[in-house]
Amino acid sequence: MEAEKGGWGDIKLQKLEEGPIGKMANWPLAKRLLRQYYPSAVAWHEPRPGKKEELAAQRRFWESRSVLNGPVRMWAPESFNYEPALKLLRHGDVVLDAGAGNLAFAVLAAEVCRKVYAVEIVPETLADGLKELGWELPKNLVPICADFRTPPLPTDVSRIVLLVVHFQGLVDQWKGREVIRATQAGVSVDRTGVVEAPAP
Ligand SMILES: C[S@@+](CC[C@H](N)C(=O)[O-])C[C@H]1O[C@@H](n2cnc3c(N)ncnc32)[C@H](O)[C@@H]1O
Repeated sequence: MEAEKGGWGDIKLQKLEEGPIGKMANWPLAKRLLRQYYPSAVAWHEPRPGKKEELAAQRRFWESRSVLNGPVRMWAPESFNYEPALKLLRHGDVVLDAGAGNLAFAVLAAEVCRKVYAVEIVPETLADGLKELGWELPKNLVPICADFRTPPLPTDVSRIVLLVVHFQGLVDQWKGREVIRATQAGVSVDRTGVVEAPAP
């Protein structure tokens, strides 16, 4: 999973670096994480380089989690949506980053929000991120290796961030909370099921 230098990944990184994200304290961390995967996206059905024997294990993993025909099975950072999503976050938010990949967005969100739970289903992807961060894992970033559709939602979560363009479903347990959702047209705020407080 070595990222080549000088490809489209570098162009994307440079664009982020020149914008407001490039001024964030955690940008150097996010940049290292993004570098792990740019410019090549790693498809779920392809063994990682040098790890052909992983293929059968990967298939068993996905089948046991009933996501074969479900949401995204390919990992690529959706960094084109990082800036609009970050703009929507507030300082007091406790965020669930659903489908967090290798934590590239989560480290940036952790700088803006009170706490970030980062839920990623693929252990290898999450492990890549944790290995890269090592002792620099932000204190208020809580990585969880799980299916974001099933584990009980931590009770303090106030908003969901879903930067997974290919998953447009709603998860039952998210009801009542705003979902900052990536769509083909950019980031939108989904308030389905949000119960407004009655006017005083
Ligand atoms: C397109 S990637 C985006 C990653 C990250 N949001 C970002 O933009 O950097 C989608 C990620 O969601 C993960 N994913 C897909 N379905 C999931 C599920 N049900 N529960 C947890 N993670 C899931 C995938 O493994 C993949 O890493």
